[in-house]
Amino acid sequence: YEGGRHDQRLDKIKDKEFSKGERDTSCETNTNNGKLILVDHPLVQHKVSIIRDKNTSVKEFRELVQEIAGLMAYETTRTLALEPIDVETPITRTVGKTLQGKKLAVVPVLRAGLGMVEGILRLIPNAKVGHVGLYRDPETLEPVEYYCKLPNDIQERDIFILDPMLATGGSAVAAIDLVKRQGGKKISLVNLIAAPEGVRRVHASHPEIDIYVAALDEKLNDHGYIVPGLGDAGDRLFGTK
Ligand code: PRP
Ligand code: URA
Repeated sequence: YEGGRHDQRLDKIKDKEFSKGERDTSCETNTNNGKLILVDHPLVQHKVSIIRDKNTSVKEFRELVQEIAGLMAYETTRTLALEPIDVETPITRTVGKTLQGKKLAVVPVLRAGLGMVEGILRLIPNAKVGHVGLYRDPETLEPVEYYCKLPNDIQERDIFILDPMLATGGSAVAAIDLVKRQGGKKISLVNLIAAPEGVRRVHASHPEIDIYVAALDEKLNDHGYIVPGLGDAGDRLFGTK
């Protein structure tokens, strides 16, 4: 993008779709109105700055990605339905609240999405885990599918597709396509860092999807990397290059 034109497009995304950790309740009834939700909690923002730093070690990067994913889970699970449950405390009987229905599935996009799974399972240990294997062709930047295994009751679950990076959006769109093809219905996308181009592409193909991000960056560079971004998330998580 050329400077001015890009800025305009970014502003448009921010004004029209951006919701800073707040929920527009109308989006929960309008199935074609997926939101971009920034998880702007100070702890999340602090940790994102550390993973951006090129001098952060593989060990620290890994730990922080899990921590950020866990912290983001407070926001991503905010609208889960609850139902009453009878509880007997040491003092008396009472009615508490419990998660309703079949609960959750998390679906990391291999490889880098794996880095977010444990952080979420620490809070939601009964979530089932599906896997989608995609890599981005370095020439065309288009996703290549190599694996897909999802829980067989996926159609009954709230599904969170996990990938630290939303760049061109090709991988996210392909992952959502795969999950929908296997019956997935209630799908959200959880990314640490997104480019405006990726957000637009996902909402163009899947307008009802909520996208949770810890940061919305400026743009993509000529190689399809997010600027400023954090480099190659998979390489930084697994120490490859
Ligand atoms: C990265 C990242 C996303 C994808 C984002 O994975 O984890 O899956 O690129 O780019 P896109 O939005 O332009 O599709 P990569 O293809 O490098 O594979 P890896 O996780 O195996 O390293
Ligand atoms: N994939 C990454 O890991 N990083 C980017 O910046 C873009 C795609």
